[in-house]
Amino acid sequence: TEPLKIALAGLGTVGGGVIRLLEANAALIARRAGRPIEVVAVSARDRSKDRGVDLSRFRWVDDTGALAVLDGVDVVVELIGGADGPALALARNSIAAGRAFVTANKAMIAHHGLELAEAAERRGVALKYEAAVAGGIPVIKGLREGAAANELAHVYGILNGTCNYILSTMEAEGRDFAEVLAEAQALGFAEADPSFDIDGVDAAHKLSILASLAFGTRIDFDSVAVTGIRHVIAADIAEAAALGFKVRLLGYAETRPDGLFQRVHPHLVPVAHPLAHVSGSLNAVVAEGNFVGRLLFEGRGAGDGPTASAVVADLIDIARGEYGPAFAMPVSALADRPAADAGEG
Ligand code: NDP
Ligand code: HSE
Repeated sequence: TEPLKIALAGLGTVGGGVIRLLEANAALIARRAGRPIEVVAVSARDRSKDRGVDLSRFRWVDDTGALAVLDGVDVVVELIGGADGPALALARNSIAAGRAFVTANKAMIAHHGLELAEAAERRGVALKYEAAVAGGIPVIKGLREGAAANELAHVYGILNGTCNYILSTMEAEGRDFAEVLAEAQALGFAEADPSFDIDGVDAAHKLSILASLAFGTRIDFDSVAVTGIRHVIAADIAEAAALGFKVRLLGYAETRPDGLFQRVHPHLVPVAHPLAHVSGSLNAVVAEGNFVGRLLFEGRGAGDGPTASAVVADLIDIARGEYGPAFAMPVSALADRPAADAGEG
């Protein structure tokens, strides 16, 4: 059978993980996808960097942007990061060239996802981004497909692994914020600029994507109210514990009669609540549907293995020919604001 041929842009934490996973589970992936998934070309900034993976089998392309139009490539996978710049140019050009596009880049999807999805619909190619929200948890699939028949009243959760690692490690070990942040960076959880994590912006990117999927609305990142965890100190966590709470950075979105309500901020979570037990780099997402009831998704929200798992799941869908619109429905059918009766079910 003809393999699905991949060009990979970005060979850092996630890109390296994707190469390792495709290699380690190649036979299983080929059986499930119905054909092999084969990396044919790779690119990053620095060719000489030792990445701990053997790249000698792949064609190295110096100009990352050229991956968009490389002959014989079915899917371009973008694992560079950044809302604009080379990632966005690669997305636009790959889709325009008729390539399927897979990304883990929530900043780009939050800011430009609708434009890219419209372009993908026009061109008849897949745009997929399972890894962009909550790492290895299949929550895009869960909301877009699994809960598709439901009216969802709200969606909320722990959406940033770095912040959750910092808060839960400070809580368990009483350690200093800066020291634990450095540890999260060393483990590959943090963004290239970790202020996106600790100031809540990364969680806000993810929340705006989840809200769109849950409510069938256009992504509205600018209306998310955001407060991060920069000013949380060990004493805050200890005082909360004495009162029976844990401190967690939550993203919360719901439909209200006057529109969409989206907030990211540190919450006091009662110790008996399921989210109180979500520690380390784990993420969790809760959604409430009018027929399915409560859904709780939990798993590792950051790091090479979980994120690669989500990227490769997207590739398997594409190999099988299983994909639809990138969001809850075609972009032209997404609403500007929640339906007036949403949330009443
Ligand atoms: P890294 O910083 O580890 O890797 C980024 C890669 O992109 C590097 O290989 C780098 O090249 C390459 N790169 C950077 N700038 C350019 C450029 N201008 N042209 C070509 N290549 C470039 O990031 P991550 O792997 O952690 O993250 C990648 C994406 O995945 C981001 O969008 C991130 O938000 C997202 N993500 C990350 C998760 C995680 O846990 N780390 C989880 C979920 C999503 P070089 O190596 O040569 O410097
Ligand atoms: N920096 C992100 C986090 C990576 O810590 O959650 C996963 O999206």
